[in-house]
Amino acid sequence: MSSESPKTFTIKNYGCQMNVYDGDRMAELLSAQGMSAAADKANADLVVLNTCHIREKAAEKVYSEIGRLRRRDGSSPMIAVAGCVAQAEGSEISRRAREVDIVVGPQAYHKLPEMVASVARGENVVDLDLPGLDKFDVLPKRRKTGAATFLTVQEGCDKFCTYCVVPYTRGAEISRGFAELIDEAKALVDEGAKEITLLGQNVNAWRDGEQDLGTLIRALDQIDGLARIRYMTSHPNDMTDGLIAAHAEVEKLMPYLHLPVQAGNDRILKAMNRSHSRDSYLRILDKVRAVRPDIALSGDFIVGFPGETDAEFEDTLSIVREARYAHAFSFKYSPRPGTPAATMDEQVAPEVADERLQRLQALINEQQTAFNRDTVGKRTSVLLEKPGKLDGQLIGRSPWLQSVHILAQGLSIGDIVEVDIVDAGPLSLKGEITMRAAA
Ligand code: 5AD
Ligand code: SF4
Repeated sequence: MSSESPKTFTIKNYGCQMNVYDGDRMAELLSAQGMSAAADKANADLVVLNTCHIREKAAEKVYSEIGRLRRRDGSSPMIAVAGCVAQAEGSEISRRAREVDIVVGPQAYHKLPEMVASVARGENVVDLDLPGLDKFDVLPKRRKTGAATFLTVQEGCDKFCTYCVVPYTRGAEISRGFAELIDEAKALVDEGAKEITLLGQNVNAWRDGEQDLGTLIRALDQIDGLARIRYMTSHPNDMTDGLIAAHAEVEKLMPYLHLPVQAGNDRILKAMNRSHSRDSYLRILDKVRAVRPDIALSGDFIVGFPGETDAEFEDTLSIVREARYAHAFSFKYSPRPGTPAATMDEQVAPEVADERLQRLQALINEQQTAFNRDTVGKRTSVLLEKPGKLDGQLIGRSPWLQSVHILAQGLSIGDIVEVDIVDAGPLSLKGEITMRAAA
């Protein structure tokens, strides 16, 4: 246990983009208190582990990471465990790992500076409040942003899929207010953001009174200087007609949709409590593609859900063939303590799940490569986001979220350029510059 006021900090993020967003906010909070990001992470006075609990032995990984933080001289930095493992494990963490000073859940991290001060006074702190939106009121105004940035608009989940811990670790679905979001988006654009990705565990469940995500996107469309809008992750049941229509009407809304289906068999979808069917999912895609035929579809899949037979798994392969993905994540089912599926009979043998995962990933990779190859020969816009490994190389994103590598002089990060796509691999495209577009 540490008992001096820390001067430097480092934050290690695990898991989803939501955690990246939260990690950035924690960094801003700590900086606003006069602390600075440690140049040498190994010697930071305060280490924040911003954890993820969605799959696999997340808690065990956190304990071994804590063990590794002990310094050669036997001392430890001040340690805060944040994020979803903190929420799920609670004070068990500081009981099992005595060197942990702070346990803070995803809805309480705005109190981090106070907690750090308490620890410096010799106390241990656990705060796992789940009351929703308080933190957004007190977080400092955002000052630093990249050309492509995130904006959390919604948190939590009421869907209770039987395999998932999110409703327990992130709490109920809540939406931030319309006016506050427009203000924050404008501030981000003033700071140089060209692209904003709206984030939420169920981002398309965002509501403020009568307004839904489609309305919010149309309002963001009016912000001068903002060139691109994206959103993730969406649930099929919240894919409203207004949101689908926005894909037709709002030019700034990029043709990309992350819409997980998880499995292709109706019995499994029911056991997962997904509350949509194979067919209703495919019909949503029909509607989206009717207005935006070039949409890049992305998804999440789970193989080896309890009781999944070979034939039921084949339905997952066939929905992938029917839906046609540009990109997708796929996972082996992992029982999460406290979720209904963890105690279901007929857990699938690991070697069966392994084999299914390999077959699914081979199919997804094939589709991803085919999608990328289809863009060869097209002229499209690319937002330059970061330097590449080669001299003079910059890496940006296409409208379909593909990574595009460009070799060109005189361009800067944040530029939006027109490029010809000349080559494609499974993970990225090669572009040649044609002209500089109006940013
Ligand atoms: N096991 C495996 N994958 C899971 N996911 C969520 N919970 C589990 C679990 N228990 C996957 C889902 C979800 C993504 C974020 O993680 O596919 O969409
Ligand atoms: Fe988890 Fe299902 Fe909610 Fe997604 S919709 S966060 S998978 S419970």
